[in-house]
Amino acid sequence: MADEDNSKKLWGGRFSADLSAEALDFTQSIPADSPMVAEDIWGSQAHAIMLAKTQIISEEDLREILYWLEHARSEYEAGRLQLQSELEDVHMNVEVLVRQGAGPEIGGRLHTARSRNDQVVTDARLHLRGRLLDIQELLAALQEVLLERAEQHTETVMPGYTHTQHAQPISAGFWLTGYASMLQRDQQRVAAAYHRTNQCPLGAAALAGTSFPIDRNLTAQLLGFDGVIEHALDAVGSRDFVAEALSALAILATNLSRLAEELVLFSTYEYGMIEIPDAYASGSSIMPQKKNPCIAELTRARTGAVIGRLMQILTMLKGLPSGYNRDLQEDKPPLWEALDTVEGILHVFIPMMQQLTLNTERMAQLAAANFAAATELANFLVRERGLPFRTCHEIVGGLVAKLISEGKTLDDYQRVAQLLAEQGQQLSSEEVAEIVNPSACLHRHVSQGSTNPEQVAAIIDTLKAAVVDTKRQLTAARSQIKQARHHTDDIIQHILAGNPLSECDV
Ligand code: ARG
Repeated sequence: MADEDNSKKLWGGRFSADLSAEALDFTQSIPADSPMVAEDIWGSQAHAIMLAKTQIISEEDLREILYWLEHARSEYEAGRLQLQSELEDVHMNVEVLVRQGAGPEIGGRLHTARSRNDQVVTDARLHLRGRLLDIQELLAALQEVLLERAEQHTETVMPGYTHTQHAQPISAGFWLTGYASMLQRDQQRVAAAYHRTNQCPLGAAALAGTSFPIDRNLTAQLLGFDGVIEHALDAVGSRDFVAEALSALAILATNLSRLAEELVLFSTYEYGMIEIPDAYASGSSIMPQKKNPCIAELTRARTGAVIGRLMQILTMLKGLPSGYNRDLQEDKPPLWEALDTVEGILHVFIPMMQQLTLNTERMAQLAAANFAAATELANFLVRERGLPFRTCHEIVGGLVAKLISEGKTLDDYQRVAQLLAEQGQQLSSEEVAEIVNPSACLHRHVSQGSTNPEQVAAIIDTLKAAVVDTKRQLTAARSQIKQARHHTDDIIQHILAGNPLSECDV
């Protein structure tokens, strides 16, 4: 039954005039709320069941309310539920559907012992938790790709850089696992944000809790939360979980942006160490020869937007007095945007990294060039000749300066041996060749976590085990949510079939 007038002004009693069109347009949150329709309905279902279980509403009223909530849900799932901006937000939209269906006498009972303040933050947490699991899953898939690629390249030499200058030879597997290792901490940060997010604020009501004997643990359990956020004022007024999620996303995006930057650099003609797969590069409309790393460039740029969304939230929060403030409505657009952006980056990075060509010949050429093995030559003199490292650093430094002035490199083994002899260090040119060989340099490294192929293989094993662990946690978290949804559904079906709540597993 329609109750148009009353239904459109749920808080109308105190007001003598309708909200002006401009004010409504300014304040409504329909676009920000639209990802949370299913969540709002589920939250209302859990709340209604709890109200009946605690005998705050009757079972007959519960049946009617659940019937119309299920109706709203199937309309939404069929794509027929259009949120109306005149109703301000998703909560009013869903409640009005129930009030129109069940009538004001019964439908009007749904909002007992609840406020939009605890509703909105419940919906946001329900939605965010699923999105964080999606991010973790994509992140695990990217880690897997990096580790699989790395496995094939523990012996592939390439130059390692400091200050973007040739430093020492490393393996391509070492380079790739560097990112997989970095992303493991991102996994942990997103997982931590998930655990802080998956706590139930419902039942905090407007700010102070309620004088009805509600059961907050029951609603939390029906919604698949890990627990409740006890303090009511904190529960409705705090958004640090949003800041934490955004912070995890901003750091993750920053790490991906560093990889993006290296893809841009390494795919230039000058480096020539990698080639971006054709399907993930763009051409130029004027220069026929161009192949541009646009995905990497856009990732770099969009990372700026994700960081901006974190700053936006922190700035919004820092001046707020306790309790709900309407400012908090502005938490969702930046959160959804950052989630979409990071998800988009991960989606495209997974296949792009899988199909990335490593130009191993060019890598080997660069690894041997530009004195990248100089440290190993100094280390040899320390180890084999018992000299202090500083002395060897001096000897090799002088040698490099001399070679540069002669237009020669460390590959000029004979000249290197000659110059070393002038410093009182007799070495055959074969010995020099072995010392400066980039592949031999990798193998000579012995320290934990070094570029030695065995060390890299060990790191790959450790990280693969961590990914397996993440996936196990993801499966457990998803099944907890799914089971909670099924449990709520079972109760709904049982009640709609005319059975008493006492015969339900509530
Ligand atoms: N649209 C609001 C938000 O997103 C819902 C809560 C509104 N509460 C209120 N008292 N006006 O935060």
